[in-house]
Amino acid sequence: MTVTDPELRESMTTVAEYLREDPRTPDVLFEQAGEDPPLVPFSAERYTSTDWAALEVERVFKKQWQMACRENDIPATGDYIEYRIADQTIVLVRLGDGSIRALRNSCLHRGTALIEGAGSNAEFQCTFHGWTWELDGSLKHIPCRWDFPKIEDRSFALPQVKVDTWNGFVFVNFDPQCEPLADFVGPTLARHFTLWPLDRRYKAVHVVKKINCNWKVALEAFMEDYHVFRTHASIVGYAADCNSQYDIFDGRHSRMITAMGVASPHLRDSYTAQDTVDSMIGDLVADVARDANVVVEPPQIPEGSTSRQVLAGFMRDSMGERSGIDFSAAADAEVLDAIQYQMFPNLIPWGGFSFPLVYRYRPAENPDWCYFDVMILAPMPEGVPLPRDAAPIELPSDEPWANCELLGGLGPVYDQDMVNLPKVQRGLHNDSLRELVFSEYQERNIRHFHRRLEEIVGR
Ligand code: FES
Ligand SMILES: [Fe+2]
Repeated sequence: MTVTDPELRESMTTVAEYLREDPRTPDVLFEQAGEDPPLVPFSAERYTSTDWAALEVERVFKKQWQMACRENDIPATGDYIEYRIADQTIVLVRLGDGSIRALRNSCLHRGTALIEGAGSNAEFQCTFHGWTWELDGSLKHIPCRWDFPKIEDRSFALPQVKVDTWNGFVFVNFDPQCEPLADFVGPTLARHFTLWPLDRRYKAVHVVKKINCNWKVALEAFMEDYHVFRTHASIVGYAADCNSQYDIFDGRHSRMITAMGVASPHLRDSYTAQDTVDSMIGDLVADVARDANVVVEPPQIPEGSTSRQVLAGFMRDSMGERSGIDFSAAADAEVLDAIQYQMFPNLIPWGGFSFPLVYRYRPAENPDWCYFDVMILAPMPEGVPLPRDAAPIELPSDEPWANCELLGGLGPVYDQDMVNLPKVQRGLHNDSLRELVFSEYQERNIRHFHRRLEEIVGR
């Protein structure tokens, strides 16, 4: 039986009510915070206009801290990796003293990008005429030096970009006058992530795909669970969607907590707790069961227990087996729920242990395209040195995420989102569409995101 909308609103269990069932739940998951931005429409042109896109680059991406790579992408002296945002390119390089430097990736002769992708070098040499810089960006050599009598070596160092690290991430900021990174992270996220130290993880998977939509269209699809019932119908048996919890922290970042191991409120009465256990375990073990050609029998919910407790136990065991880490002290929420933080403007690091994911959304050369990075930050047992991070793999735009075996069951879920995103972008171009409306509760974090964006962009 499907319940009607007003009944649904009344009957929903809150995330906090689910979390209270487990005495181990950390306090930070009970913190609820946030303004309630006014319920006003937002202009549609921000997704399609080249003027808007240019202002975003100038006022957002050249002014805000943004995650460029992981520290362990470049662990050894001379390791480098390119970071691209819109039409800007920089190189992050590890110096001999262990520090990281961010340099503009353009030859100062006639502009050639000095590096592409990632690698290891003793110097940066332009492939065109051979101008060469040291790793720290100081000028090393100009062939036929006599032919450039007006050039002074000192003023031909590669320009630097500000760089700092937090939680294993390397952040950059193009603005030399910017606030410190610690102020950008803010007190709340700094405190929350001490529970899930991301600098003790290594990037096991990094897949990036160019998508035919504005970067905000892609980002916003991962900031609300309103779309889950229609877009991801296969998971609503074990993902509580319209009662997710939405928080806004320190006036700039946000969080969405989705209780897993319980059915969507949309399914009330038509789905038993045992159905939830059966469907979630069926999806969790689908790949393994298929490869081994075995049937995995989901556990029965014992008397006095709940679907969440049974599934959290299953997750603790399977995550422990995979990683060699003991998760027995972790709360049900930490091994089961989807806890997603959104750091303004374009980063989504997940909290907890169940989904060790990081998403990043970068504008490409024009407002109709963006890059979506998916990273899996695998936890490592204490005392084991972190391996070098996996280099980014670029998935062609027309290739499904499901083809990327490294992503397991996540690939097909992303493909469900990808069906919508280019269609959203196409529809946004219709000049009859002037404004978009966002919901009061489930899209509140997106409304807050746009208010902040408008303040910064000045439109
Ligand atoms: S363009 Fe780089 S050396 Fe000439
Ligand atoms: Fe989705």
